[in-house]
Amino acid sequence: MSTNRRRDPMTKTLGLIGAGNIGSALARLAVAAGLNVVLSNSRAPETLAELVAELGEQARAATPAEAAQAGDLVVATIPLSSYDKLPAAAMAGKTVIDTMNYYPDRIGHIAELDAGGLTSSTLVQQHLADSRVVKAFNSIDFVRLFTSARPTDADDRSALPIAGDDTAAKAQVAELLDSLGYDTVDIGTLADSWRSEPGTPVYVQPYLPAQPEGLTDEEKWRWFFEASVVPVPAATVRELTDTAVRRSAGDARATLARE
Ligand SMILES: NC(=O)c1ccc[n+]([C@@H]2O[C@H](COP(=O)([O-])OP(=O)(O)OC[C@H]3O[C@@H](n4cnc5c(N)ncnc54)[C@H](OP(=O)(O)O)[C@@H]3O)[C@@H](O)[C@H]2O)c1
Repeated sequence: MSTNRRRDPMTKTLGLIGAGNIGSALARLAVAAGLNVVLSNSRAPETLAELVAELGEQARAATPAEAAQAGDLVVATIPLSSYDKLPAAAMAGKTVIDTMNYYPDRIGHIAELDAGGLTSSTLVQQHLADSRVVKAFNSIDFVRLFTSARPTDADDRSALPIAGDDTAAKAQVAELLDSLGYDTVDIGTLADSWRSEPGTPVYVQPYLPAQPEGLTDEEKWRWFFEASVVPVPAATVRELTDTAVRRSAGDARATLARE
């Protein structure tokens, strides 16, 4: 009997709450990896018809609660300002990936986070009290999220940080990242997840080449879409997250990284 047969994957169906930049990039990667995806947004399933048609037979659209229930693993990828609208009952018992970042200038202030101390993922976990929240995919921009993905053992494969309080949930998320094209660096608990939040050294920039000087706003936007990828191996992610320094909420969130 073969000893290196792949085990049955823990995640066969990915439920997505949010189907914007990050949600659709993850759906594309998941379908390419052979997973089924159930997509949802704030409006109605039929508003996702075009994306579902592009993704093909492995994809369907549903309400957020239905997507949560259908998923072996659920991704919450909506603006953080709406975290308390995530359907907690439907997500109970599930591993939930939290991709969300706190950008008060764009989404408005959240008093619990401005007070300092609490990470945004801890706040999300408080709302999803019966789920196992793992922060992931928050520290790479949506274009590189898609274009940096590589098969296992590729020389130019990148790693992404993950953080969570539940070891088994982190193992499930690491397995998903592997199948989608990424190595994983476990940076600790949800309380430690500030190490990959906006404004930290691992956040977005390492995966991008240097932006040429003197570009107009329009040229910067085009550059963002067309820029190549910079592979960021696990050792670099480890070093960048280990050496991160926690700053005040205002400083930490004053990143110029495009998201
Ligand atoms: N963009 C990036 O490069 C990037 C990188 C890392 C992390 N993130 C984080 O990932 C999250 C998603 O970012 P994004 O750029 O993908 O956002 P986006 O393009 O604006 O998409 C947001 C999605 O969330 C849906 N949504 C909003 N409120 C909802 C609700 N209450 N229930 C269900 N769905 C809801 C929206 O649906 P409708 O269209 O129907 O309103 C839309 O599909 C954000 O928290 C962001 O901070 C983004």
